[in-house]
Amino acid sequence: MLIVHTISELQERLNDLRRTGKQIGLVPTMGNLHQGHLQLVKTAQQHADITVVTLFVNPTQFGANEDLDSYPRTFQEDCDKLSALNTDILFAPNTDEIYPRGGDANTLVHVPEITNVLCGESRPNHFDGVTTIVSKLFNITRADVAVFGEKDYQQLAVIRRMVDDLNIPIKIIGEPIVRESDGLAMSSRNGYLSTDERQLAPSIQQTLLHIEQSIINGNSNFRSLEAHAKLQLTNLGFKPNYFHIYHHDLLRPATAGDTDIVILAAAFLGSTRLIDNLCIRLTSNK
Ligand code: PAJ
Repeated sequence: MLIVHTISELQERLNDLRRTGKQIGLVPTMGNLHQGHLQLVKTAQQHADITVVTLFVNPTQFGANEDLDSYPRTFQEDCDKLSALNTDILFAPNTDEIYPRGGDANTLVHVPEITNVLCGESRPNHFDGVTTIVSKLFNITRADVAVFGEKDYQQLAVIRRMVDDLNIPIKIIGEPIVRESDGLAMSSRNGYLSTDERQLAPSIQQTLLHIEQSIINGNSNFRSLEAHAKLQLTNLGFKPNYFHIYHHDLLRPATAGDTDIVILAAAFLGSTRLIDNLCIRLTSNK
């Protein structure tokens, strides 16, 4: 695996490969890789000739009181995992390489509306940070395809919207959530959980499954299901941030008659913020 730290070297390599007709696949990450990330790499390898994984803990998507400084950095382990998968290129730039103007002086990419709800409500500038870094990575690599996880459902929807609105010539692939054996969605932040919190954490998915079952059984009183689920999580010891039943694509509250629905949850366990979601396709009665 080739490890590259500068944009110029990466572009030189990719230009050579592109000249020989190779398709480029991109997997953006912030490192501390787990099976969820590695699954994205495997999917990229199926869709492209050359896979570029990027590892950059992007400061602009973290809020002032969030975990930028404590975010787990495990560079050597990440390299070993990617090498074992025969990843072609790892791009691991430092912050100055990506944001040479520093601070607030950089151009931002902003997707309106769907960034104001869900995670965007409690993390105001988060998605601007994500769309800006992701568009930079698209431009730097000129990748043909990029793979993102459905674990970050809203992030994937925002990136799809950006690509559509800005006519970015790239294909976006969504990868289903990879879970631990007890159902907890894999996340770099799971490592923050204490033993007791870790035991409790799969209850988020169980609550999603429980609400899914109610909806499949015909309960379309979505607002009351949301309130019930939040209460259930609170009683279990979570501090729910949101629990919403939304239209899968428009990211607005689902209404009776919607057939493609996503249930999205975010909740704190102690100081760790966990997110999870579940998609439902209802067969129309019409
Ligand atoms: P990060 O949290 O490192 O996640 C990188 C990619 O892995 C994202 O597309 C995320 O959705 C996916 N992923 C994480 N856990 C997953 C799981 N359990 N199953 C499937 N996919 C999973 O998301 C980011 O980094 C950043 O916001 C980034 C896009 C790199 C921009 O900085």
